[in-house]
Amino acid sequence: MIKEIEQIAEVAGYLWQKGWAERNGGNITVNITGSLSAAYKSSPAVKGPISIGQKLPRLKGCFFYCKGTGKRMRDLSRSPMENGSIIRICDDCEHYEIISDVPVMPTSELPSHLAVHNYLIEHGSPFKASLHTHPIELVALTHSREWLEKDAATNMLWSMIPETKAFCPKGLGMVPYMLPGSVELAKATIDTIDEGYDVVMWEKHGVFAVDTNIIDAFDQVDVLNKAAQIYIAGRNMGFVPEGMTAAQMAEMSKAFNLPK
Ligand code: 13P
Ligand code: ZN
Repeated sequence: MIKEIEQIAEVAGYLWQKGWAERNGGNITVNITGSLSAAYKSSPAVKGPISIGQKLPRLKGCFFYCKGTGKRMRDLSRSPMENGSIIRICDDCEHYEIISDVPVMPTSELPSHLAVHNYLIEHGSPFKASLHTHPIELVALTHSREWLEKDAATNMLWSMIPETKAFCPKGLGMVPYMLPGSVELAKATIDTIDEGYDVVMWEKHGVFAVDTNIIDAFDQVDVLNKAAQIYIAGRNMGFVPEGMTAAQMAEMSKAFNLPK
């Protein structure tokens, strides 16, 4: 099994252990074009062509591992090729084919995943992995108008524990509630990534994070959710957490060479 799929299986196990992956909750796609042999790439289609629902010209010649729709992360962690599949984007960039042995239909969030991969390639990004998950505390924050304001959650989360900004220097973007799996949600996700975020909240639903590999994408969400847990722990103890001061944040940003 290629390294990327081993990492996906590892992360799927963490998502289940964290309680972020109820039933079939969450999905993962990784661009594995660079890791497949030429012989494998020319395998006959097991299923398809299937419409993507949009034309994504930058995905020509690309291959992705995709979690299967309705499949459980806890099952994927043990059997990634029975709970996900490898797809090949067709030359028209509007369809894909499944080429792995078990024809598992890809995640319902494929519109967002593939549109984001198309955007990343277009912008010369080294990011190859995208993760959607349902982290409890981060999702809870999006049920309050206060934290949906631009960068309100980012600044609060950064101030909970110094490493948060160091490891998530771009903060947390916000996408207003939209129908799961919709092309509108995909477009809004790209717009928010285009603003400079690599971790995006889907209001009252979950997180969408991109990074070079799936381990790093998971780590970003883990770090941000930990900060949210600290905030909530303070509230549960009956006080509003103070947060690091502006001077402490500025000192930290300078020491770690982070943007202001
Ligand atoms: P899938 O099972 O189709 O991946 O859907 C899970 C999910 O979290 C949708 O937002
Ligand atoms: Zn979801």
